[in-house]
Amino acid sequence: MKLPIPDYIKGIAPYVPGKPIEELEREYGVSNSIKLASNENPLGPSPKALAAIGAATAKLHRYPDGAGYELTQRLSNYWKISPSQIVLGNGSDDLLGMLARILLQPGDEVLVPDPSFLMYTIVAQSAGAIPVKIPLKDLAIDLEGILDKVGPHTRMIFICNPNNPTGTVVGRSEFEAFLSALPQDVLVVVDEAYYEFVRDSRCASGISFLGSKPMVATLRTFSKAYGLAGLRVGYGVMDAALAELLQRVRMPFNVNSLAQVGATAALDDEAFLKKSLEVVHQGLDFLYAQLKKRGLRSYASQANFFLIDVQRPADEVFERLLHHGVIVRSMRAYGYPRFIRLSVGLPEENQRFLTALDQVL
Ligand SMILES: Cc1ncc(COP(=O)(O)O)c(C=O)c1O
Repeated sequence: MKLPIPDYIKGIAPYVPGKPIEELEREYGVSNSIKLASNENPLGPSPKALAAIGAATAKLHRYPDGAGYELTQRLSNYWKISPSQIVLGNGSDDLLGMLARILLQPGDEVLVPDPSFLMYTIVAQSAGAIPVKIPLKDLAIDLEGILDKVGPHTRMIFICNPNNPTGTVVGRSEFEAFLSALPQDVLVVVDEAYYEFVRDSRCASGISFLGSKPMVATLRTFSKAYGLAGLRVGYGVMDAALAELLQRVRMPFNVNSLAQVGATAALDDEAFLKKSLEVVHQGLDFLYAQLKKRGLRSYASQANFFLIDVQRPADEVFERLLHHGVIVRSMRAYGYPRFIRLSVGLPEENQRFLTALDQVL
């Protein structure tokens, strides 16, 4: 290829998603597989969302409302903030890309906790910026370590709260102190993809700084607790001046019409959200106890997934679980060669994982 592709693009390592069930079944000839690898909602989609989507299909010949009026209004009422402080995205991934487009230029530095969600590095590199990795401390984001790395070229900092893949959270008072110590021209992106699952009351929320800290942008998604990962819808909450810039670079119809009605209905489906949280919290507590009985260490998490030290090469355990029709994530590529990450499933899926694990170990 003769195209003058910049080296910073050629240097991007592709994002590797969790293995799809269909792929596993094709490759291994197994059936009835379960996927506990992508932190999805095991209950399925919100029933209210499904009903709203069904009713909206008759209008699929029309373009979506490019401004996402209804969903934005609904979110504005939900959070008691102005619609001008909300930007909708084709998943929260889309917002990561928009933020990088408006702020980053080649040579800028982006501070990324490590390990964390891999897309932070990819969006920084896509803009020619340099991801600067700050190792976690005891599996948690090291705010002091991040502050130490802030320099004249720092433009953006990612805080994943709770952090994927460790499930740890940043506390409110430490986060407040962190923001106060930062220069005002550095954007802090707080990714709260798993926030609904948090049980620790000390956990910081980026949204609470709206109005007082204009350099904080918070991302939320309908992919996890609301069960709509396949629909692709998320949103950002941020200072209106920043939101207005994102609206300029956003693709005009980035959130499709079914996603708009589905997310609006899901936000009203309080019963489904409650049930989702119950399933995850009960599943976590059950799995922690069961793993402990087996002498395996698991790491307490505030999200719908957690890390397990399998005391042997994680890639091997991952591979052998596949033969039992169970998909998890090996954490080798994240720097934890003996850890797997497990997303909480339905009670029968959690049990199936344990049975498979017993056979594998
Ligand atoms: C921390 C984190 N942020 C964002 C996302 C992407 O979410 P969405 O489906 O809204 O693009 C994920 C998905 O796994 C995630 O783990």
